[in-house]
Amino acid sequence: MEIIVKDTVEDMSKTAARAVARILNAKPDAVLGLATGSTPLGLYKELVRMHKDEGLDFSQVTTFNLDEYVGLTQNHPQSYHYFMHENLFKHINIPKQNIYIPSGTTDNYAAFCAWYEQRIQQCGGIDLQLLGIGSDGHIAFNEPASSFGSRTRIKTLARQTIEDNARFFDTLDQVPIYAITMGVGTILEARKIILLANGKNKASAVASAIEGPVTSMITASALQLHRDVLYVVDREAAGDLKMLEYYEWIQAKMVDAP
Ligand code: F6R
Repeated sequence: MEIIVKDTVEDMSKTAARAVARILNAKPDAVLGLATGSTPLGLYKELVRMHKDEGLDFSQVTTFNLDEYVGLTQNHPQSYHYFMHENLFKHINIPKQNIYIPSGTTDNYAAFCAWYEQRIQQCGGIDLQLLGIGSDGHIAFNEPASSFGSRTRIKTLARQTIEDNARFFDTLDQVPIYAITMGVGTILEARKIILLANGKNKASAVASAIEGPVTSMITASALQLHRDVLYVVDREAAGDLKMLEYYEWIQAKMVDAP
């Protein structure tokens, strides 16, 4: 696990965007796993800027989103389809047919989930998975007690997640209770993972995920089992890390490492 702590959200976002760009430059037809929510907004903004100003090319890229709310149509302003279109896809040159987002309106969720998993495999697997983290330690919508072997499926959202996400809706009642989400097992198969976190309300989840025991009660702790995970967090989200000084020492010394 590599842990990079940045002073601002902007630095966090730029660091992550550079890591994405490095992957796309090395492998122009990379398969990216994408997250929604507040956390990756700055990263997507920076990728759009890199596309416009520096020619960062998405013409051969394929993307798979982590999750979608069940019951929201693609053009619902709070759907993750809408979010991705507005914040990334409409600004870059990714072909429409290379974009995969779980459906929140299929009439056969079991079949859709199996197909989604199969499509990931058929596209060669995910090269880079971007993640946020919930205040309850979830990755994607793998809420506490999700199996580390779980695959794409329907999950019932935890009360805390519903309350956290109510800020995007007019009332708490409007927040969907179910989501379709990649599983922890699906995520762990990505070749590289970058998890972003910012803000004080993520400090406890980040510390549990990095320094706590591996437990399905904090599904992000499953990332301890993955061999190529990069955490990029801002100073507030790093606030509860006991070994913060050590991680910063490693980063400072890495420059001259043999
Ligand atoms: C979203 C997702 C979620 C979020 C998490 C944090 O696609 O998978 O796990 O990353 O809930 O959300 P924000 O970034 O809004 O705090």
